Amino acid sequence: MNDKEKLTQSNINWYPGHMTKAIRQMKEDIKLIDLVVEILDARLPLSSRNPDIDELGKNKARLILLNKSDLADERWNDKWAEYFREKGYTVVKVNSKNKTGIKEINNAVNEACKEKIERDRKRGIKNRPVRAMVVGIPNVGKSTFINAYAGKACTKTGNKPGVTKGKQWIKLNKGLELLDTPGILWPKFEDQSIGFKLAVSGSINDNILNTTDMVYDFIKMLKEMYPNAITSRYGIEDSDDALEILNRVAEVRGCKLKGDRPDIDKAALIILDDYRSGKLGRITLDTF
Ligand code: G4P
Repeated sequence: MNDKEKLTQSNINWYPGHMTKAIRQMKEDIKLIDLVVEILDARLPLSSRNPDIDELGKNKARLILLNKSDLADERWNDKWAEYFREKGYTVVKVNSKNKTGIKEINNAVNEACKEKIERDRKRGIKNRPVRAMVVGIPNVGKSTFINAYAGKACTKTGNKPGVTKGKQWIKLNKGLELLDTPGILWPKFEDQSIGFKLAVSGSINDNILNTTDMVYDFIKMLKEMYPNAITSRYGIEDSDDALEILNRVAEVRGCKLKGDRPDIDKAALIILDDYRSGKLGRITLDTF
């Protein structure tokens, strides 16, 4: 077996079975829709983007949502929005949790689907609703977005015999129907740093990670990118040594083991939670 085969084999073995099934399902679902609404984590728009989506969604209208934009650096939100616009996508910055940006979605859908709408018009088809599907990696905010956008007022349509058997559509307005189950894409880990950024941001199950080691590396990363984030959050003096930073956070937060030794594992968890909830400030990890 050559190296390439080994790599492929381990990738296949690693690839979780339910994800293979999810991809198969998505390939079927995508046939039914006009518009792919791709949700990315604004803190890591490239790392949270599964490149397979371009193949899956080819010939479909495309809308990218930079979700969790409240947690990301606003300067970078604008740069990433521009980056994807230049590549031809329609882009909206959103915070699905408090619904910022949600009002802009309808216009964005029309813009992304203008060719389809025009095609329909030329063929004399009137008012055929746009059918959309939300896709993204786990935890990126697909359900939160669907709830924020569809709200409670929407009506769920039942099966459409012969066309969309077994599918539930959320009729959002006259012009738009959303498939109510989002497409789950598994992140790609070809590059170590991608896996790392996804892990710190909460897209990979924490149970399989060594949190303290991860936060140790995260502190080093933050020192390069946001040098004041940790020191100002915890009111500690800076140090070039990430372990020393962990010790200092443990000290100011009263994280102690038996014999008054600093509990750096607990300090690491505090830092991780604070990053994920935005308490370390608005941070973007993917930059260019
Ligand atoms: P998924 O369907 O793609 O798997 O993701 P889901 O909607 O379950 O969202 C995952 C987590 O991300 C949730 O947090 C959700 O509240 C949070 N989230 C989604 N969109 C945004 C956003 O725009 N901004 C912020 N700050 N958070 C967002 P959780 O901790 O798992 O749940 P909860 O405690 O918030 O309910």
